[in-house]
Order: sequence, then C-alpha cells, then structure tokens
Amino acid sequence: MSTLPETGIRAAGLGEATLGGHVLGQLRRLGATVGLSETDIALYGQVLLDSLAGAVRRPLSLPPASPSFLSDDHTPVEFSLAHTPDAAPALRVLVEPGWAHGTMGDSARAGLTAIRAMAARWSFPTDQLDALEDLFFPAGAEGPLALWYALDLRAGKAPGVKVYVNPSAAGPEHAARTVEEALRRLGYDKAFAELPSGAGYPFLALDLGDWKSPRTKVYVKHPHMSADDACALSRDSGAAAADIRYFFHAAAGSLPPSGQGVDGTLRLLRRPALTCHSFTEGETAPSGFTLHIPVRDYVRDDEEALALATALLTRFGMDPTVLKRSLRALTQRQLADGAGLIAYLALVYERSRQPRITAYLSSEAYSVRPPQEQHPQADLVPAQRLRAS
Ligand code: TRP
Repeated sequence: MSTLPETGIRAAGLGEATLGGHVLGQLRRLGATVGLSETDIALYGQVLLDSLAGAVRRPLSLPPASPSFLSDDHTPVEFSLAHTPDAAPALRVLVEPGWAHGTMGDSARAGLTAIRAMAARWSFPTDQLDALEDLFFPAGAEGPLALWYALDLRAGKAPGVKVYVNPSAAGPEHAARTVEEALRRLGYDKAFAELPSGAGYPFLALDLGDWKSPRTKVYVKHPHMSADDACALSRDSGAAAADIRYFFHAAAGSLPPSGQGVDGTLRLLRRPALTCHSFTEGETAPSGFTLHIPVRDYVRDDEEALALATALLTRFGMDPTVLKRSLRALTQRQLADGAGLIAYLALVYERSRQPRITAYLSSEAYSVRPPQEQHPQADLVPAQRLRAS
C-alpha cells in the first residue's frame, strides 16, 4: 500500500479490488454488449481512468472518497443506454473527475483539467465553457457538484462530450440568475423566459466536441410532479400526451394498460422528476424536452424496474434485449436483491427526431440499496389527498 502524492489516497496492493478495476470491467463488458470494438473500449477506458487520476487505484475496501451525488452509493461513474427505434442502443458514461478532492474548487480544477485533456486529444474548442468559468467556478464554490462530464461512446470515432456544471455554485439563491446569465453569454438571450418554474436548477450542460447540433441544456427539478404536469411541461415538444402519460406511470412503478384511463393527478412523492430543456444555435424556443423519472424510488427492486423499462421500450418500438444484457454486464447480483441498478428512465424529444428512451445504470461500486419492502407505489397519491394532508 503506497500513498499517491496528488490526492493523498492509498493505492491498492497487488490483487486488491480497486475503483478503476471495477468500472473498467463494467465498461469492457458493456462495450462488448453494445458492439464496441476492443480498440474503442481500450481508448475509452484509458480516457476514463486518466480523468479520475489517482482515484482509480483506490481500493474498494475504503469508503467512497467523497459523498458524490452522481450516484446513490457515491461511485463517481454512471453508465447509460440511449435507445432509439431505428438503431442499436448507444452507451454513454457519466464521470465526476474531481471526486477524490475535498473542496469544490479543487474538484472544479480537476474537472477542467480532464476536459482540456480531452479537448487536446480530440481537437475541439472549449470556448463556451471558458466563457462561463466565473459563473460556475467562483471562489468558495458550493456543491453538490463542480463539474461532471459524459461521453457518448461511438464506434471508431471521437466521442460526443458533455459537460455538466452546477447553477448553485455561487449559492442556490443565485441559481436562476446564473442560468439566465450563462444562457445570455451563449447567445440565448430569450431562452431563460422559456424555462418552466420549478424547485431549482440542478445542472446546466454543454455539448462540446463532435455533435451535429450541439445543445445547451438546463435541468429543472419538479417535486410532486403529476402526469398532468408532465403533459403541460412537454406541450411544445411535439410529444403526444398519451405517450407522456404512459411513460410517467410506467417509470413511476405502475404500468397502465394503455395511455388511457389512468389518473393524471397522481403525484410522485419520493425523489422528484427532472425536466431538461435544450437550446440549439440560432433558435429561441427550446429544441428539445426530456422527462427524467428516478424509477429506483418507485419500484420494489430492479427486477421490477427492468420489467417496467422493458414494457416501455417495447411500447415505443425499441429493442429491450441490450438493456437486459447490460444489467448482467454490470453486476452478478440478483435483480430482486436491490433497487437502484436502473437509476433513472428518461423520455427524450429532440426536434425532428424520433423519441428516445434512456436508462441510467448504476455502477454500485460501494453499495446496493436493499429492496423497498413497503411498495412505494402507495406514495403515488392523488393531488386532493396531498392538499388535505
Ligand atoms: N444522482 C443524481 C440524481 O439522482 C444525479 C444524476 C445522475 C442524474 N444521473 C442522472 C439526474 C440522470 C438525472 C438523470 O439526481
């Protein structure tokens, strides 16, 4: 056991399971499941390890280096599968490069270093991010995150890179102003007025690198959302209300027989849903809308989450088999022995594209949340009862 100078963390001895070994194994098995080549997997694995620096040698027998909010068990990595009706699902990985650092300032510096290394490797500009540094990385920045990135892992070419920053870095009371100013600097003067009201802005995200139409995205939190609310929020996205209703109920743990006849006033009382509003160059109105539902809070266990996701994918004309195999690539545990392997399900609308369904998949390097014995669906209550209580 030695101490790594950069982070002060201990490196694992020979044969000891490490964070890096854990996530790399998952990446290899998931990559093979979605059909990435060994070369692609090796490159992406290296990028992932480089970005986490010395933290990858941290033995799994030690607790997480920081209480990262990236995942429930504080693993700084989460995978996702983006499904479309016409193609095989795409694998992505979300990472907190500054995970092992004690302050948000140091975490931000580690994050920026990781992004600049990728920009040099794949020759893309970072000017959009540079233009926002004072807003998102102020002295004494607050959490719960400084910078996360996600890679869209593409076969045989440069990945799409996304950077996530925290609108509450200068304090939650300034989050709205920070979002408005960031949108203005990026050329979206009128975008802020297009955002719905909610209970805060957990993330702002930038597409960097190779994208057909790069987006700026703002996430909004909606406690106690109902299916009727989701329909109202998605109104201008081109989404059919019946699709939103079906998705809402299925992802919230109660599969309706069809989009019809379900109670649109039922509300999510556990972890809130998020919406994401995307903007693309030259347009004022949002170009995309996403509904994120934290399915893990609304099921007993992952067997149920997989059944719901399978029903959803099938109903939207997407192939559920890769998702099922991906869960096997992540863990050997029984799906019924925990809740959280599928963290979120998201329904994504981008202008002039078919809807997508994304499943966010946990790494569970540190812990598995036990099944929820009292069925959480009991929490989905009609609005009247909420007001009465
Ligand atoms: N773990 C955090 C949450 O549950 C952040 C997060 C990770 C997240 N992956 C996500 C949020 C996917 C929305 C969608 O909120």
